[in-house]
Amino acid sequence: MTGDRNKIFLDVLNKKQVGRPAFWFMRQAGRYLHEYRELRKQAGGFLDLVYHPENAAEVTMQPIRRFGMDAAILFSDILVVPQALGQPLKFETGEGPKLDPVLTLNDLKKLSIDRIDNTLNPVYETVRLTRQKLSAEGFNDTTLIGFAGSPWTVACYMVEGGGSKTFEATKTWAYRDPEGFAQLINMLCGATLHYLSKQIEAGAQAIQLFDSWSGVLDETNFRRWVINPTKEIVSALKKRHPDIPVIGFPREAGAKAIDYAKETGIDAIGLDYSVPLEWARNNLQTLLPVQGNLDPVTLLAGGNELEKSANNILENFGGKPFIFNLGHGVIKETPVEHVEQLCQIIRNFKR
Ligand code: CP3
Repeated sequence: MTGDRNKIFLDVLNKKQVGRPAFWFMRQAGRYLHEYRELRKQAGGFLDLVYHPENAAEVTMQPIRRFGMDAAILFSDILVVPQALGQPLKFETGEGPKLDPVLTLNDLKKLSIDRIDNTLNPVYETVRLTRQKLSAEGFNDTTLIGFAGSPWTVACYMVEGGGSKTFEATKTWAYRDPEGFAQLINMLCGATLHYLSKQIEAGAQAIQLFDSWSGVLDETNFRRWVINPTKEIVSALKKRHPDIPVIGFPREAGAKAIDYAKETGIDAIGLDYSVPLEWARNNLQTLLPVQGNLDPVTLLAGGNELEKSANNILENFGGKPFIFNLGHGVIKETPVEHVEQLCQIIRNFKR
């Protein structure tokens, strides 16, 4: 499995021209895989799986053994950071995450960065174990990606107490009391920097910052709450670990992705599926490597449309440093045969 790949993923991030695009898929480990559902059942809850290094490393390996992607992504969640800061977190089946909302500076005072590793140590252990497994099983050219949510997106869940479509409570706080809200963002910048550094020290070879809700902000607030904190984290991380590439994923940022790409210091940019291909080729891929952006429903649907859409993406981005990915995570009803088909299409692509 190793010969043809030759660390394609890291080559792309270092802007080296390669024969075919690198590829991995967001949520490549998860409920669409039978072997994931089995381990998940044995573990109990989702968080029990996340905090059990042996099982979490197993889950990280599952898609690699089946499909041989160029990168594995640590199995964890962006919401372990607020939990480590002291905010109670639950995942109820079928309902998504639930947190006790942080709405005031008083709520914020109850949280602390001082002992986050008491909670996060098992995650670092998962990174170590996964590197061992990758090497023991001959996947020496498979890159291990560590990750975190970016401060804005994590703050959204912390303030709302879970998911939302509009994130009105978070935005209202940020707009009414920017100095107060900045204290939450600063705490998250510090925690994220520490958390990512520890993942790198444990063996993570690249980092992705997920900004799933960057799209709900206007231009001015996008700069203040997305670009600036991301820049702060990336520049501090680069001082400590200059050789570790960082992929930013400002989901639904639209044209604001250009300033994000220019100003944050990231090495590559993840695109959601709303981004027009030609526009991204001309405005983003000229600046740095891009990653994306197949609609996960296209993968779920399969057939001709999958073939056409995947090839269209490859034709647009394939000539320059490019990481094929989805524009959001794999949907749990996705047939594994469709994932196999997609891997074939990418592997067969030639320029
Ligand atoms: O990509 C991977 O395979 C790595 C693991 C990973 C998970 N979550 C596992 C997970 C990663 C990178 C994440 C990131 C994450 N988590 C994001 C950013 C990306 C995105 O999706 O926008 C966000 C917003 C979260 C928060 C979160 N975690 C939500 C909203 C949910 C519930 C929705 C759902 O799909 O159930 C989760 C749960 C979660 N995180 C699951 C997995 C595999 C499903 C849990 C289960 O097994 O029941």
